[in-house]
Amino acid sequence: MAIQLGDIAPDFTQESTEGTIKFHEWLGKSWGVLFSHPKDFTPVCTTELGFAAKLKGEFEKRHVKILAVSVDDVASHKKWTGDIEETQKTKLNYPILGDPDRKVANLYGMIHPNANDTLTVRSVFFIDPNKKVRATITYPAATGRNFDEILRVIDSLQLTDSHSVATPANWKDGDDVIIVPSIQDPEVLKQKFPKGFKALRPYLRVTPQPNK
Ligand code: BEZ
Repeated sequence: MAIQLGDIAPDFTQESTEGTIKFHEWLGKSWGVLFSHPKDFTPVCTTELGFAAKLKGEFEKRHVKILAVSVDDVASHKKWTGDIEETQKTKLNYPILGDPDRKVANLYGMIHPNANDTLTVRSVFFIDPNKKVRATITYPAATGRNFDEILRVIDSLQLTDSHSVATPANWKDGDDVIIVPSIQDPEVLKQKFPKGFKALRPYLRVTPQPNK
């Protein structure tokens, strides 16, 4: 059965370029992003791993640990790391899991046999501090991921967890947000949204982002 939103992210122990990782213990109280790569020494993955390394500070600001996985072994990842660092002009500053036994790929349903029966697709799992899967994204092997979108999803998850809002189409941090329809009491609205709101429809109420 595929992993669904709200499920507990499956735990595992697996070797990585930074030693053995017991996943839940490694996450601790952080958010996590687990993202899969079809294969080592492939061009799109090389750019993605380098790009993610450059964004490490942005992930840290949001209390997110990032973890890559590719079905090759750790020795292969370590050889590939040199290429990634040289071509992408960055240091790899987070672990890549070896997964030659496909333990993680199978636990997370990262192999889609009708796309390819040995390589993983490009999956992204967003995991909250309670170890719940809160969002997933899946791209095919030939389409590199948009890491700005990954940060944007984290911003939305963290904002909507702490305020009674939802984020509209193409929202990015700092843009106006939508008040969730369940908040109707005028006193609660005043207290939660002191900057006021515009009711375009009774169900569509727009307010400045409350934590800005
Ligand atoms: C890549 O990462 O470049 C790639 C991997 C598998 C298939 C196609 C592209």
